[in-house]
Amino acid sequence: MSSPSTSNAANLLTNALTTLGALTCSILSYRFLRFLHLHLSTPPPSRSLARYLRPNAYALVTGASDGIGLAFATTLASRGFNLILHGRNSEKLENVRSSLVTQYPKQDIRIVIADASDAPNMEGSVEGIVSSLFTLPGPLTLLINNVGGQPRPASGRALLSISEQTHDQASALLTLNQQRHLTTLLAHAHHARG
Ligand SMILES: NC(=O)c1ccc[n+]([C@@H]2O[C@H](COP(=O)([O-])OP(=O)(O)OC[C@H]3O[C@@H](n4cnc5c(N)ncnc54)[C@H](OP(=O)(O)O)[C@@H]3O)[C@@H](O)[C@H]2O)c1
Repeated sequence: MSSPSTSNAANLLTNALTTLGALTCSILSYRFLRFLHLHLSTPPPSRSLARYLRPNAYALVTGASDGIGLAFATTLASRGFNLILHGRNSEKLENVRSSLVTQYPKQDIRIVIADASDAPNMEGSVEGIVSSLFTLPGPLTLLINNVGGQPRPASGRALLSISEQTHDQASALLTLNQQRHLTTLLAHAHHARG
């Protein structure tokens, strides 16, 4: 037969282990529920995006004919933005525009064509894009400056390492990834338009 002190110690140990087990179960259940919430719940419409959705607002998405830019354009159209879609391949961009216009017929969806890796021409193209914004019927409230990456031919997926690139190719790489000119001019245009 065990002594009262041994039995008390056993009870204490049992209580401590039960509390520890309950605590571990609670933490694991919380993590599991958080995992389910993160992966299964539908995200609410972004409140921060709503700040830019003024009446008749426009969003400009660069590199909008494919990949992440196309996903941005599609999402913004679904949230009610008018769009200016930028790309270099007019046929591809026109297909994207037609598809979005069919889905969102009330929105104004325009395209602008400019090769963003073409340094000599890009400056003029950007100025053309920016001045055309002055004729928009609504404010440009959002710029998704998405275009970038490794310059490659409009068709094909050939990628070159930096050591394989000519001076012109390296310069195109920098131009494509430094769309500061567009951002700066848009900021000035936005300021001038008020
Ligand atoms: N995907 C990734 O895992 C990842 C990771 C990190 C960063 N990023 C960055 O996210 C951005 C988009 O990536 P993505 O994977 O969506 O690329 P993507 O699928 O290759 O699409 C790029 C878009 O930009 C256009 N574009 C490419 N070069 C252009 C040029 N010289 N002038 C005008 N338009 C041009 C493409 O038009 P065309 O259809 O005519 O080619 C296409 O619409 C890039 O800045 C990339 O560096 C992507």
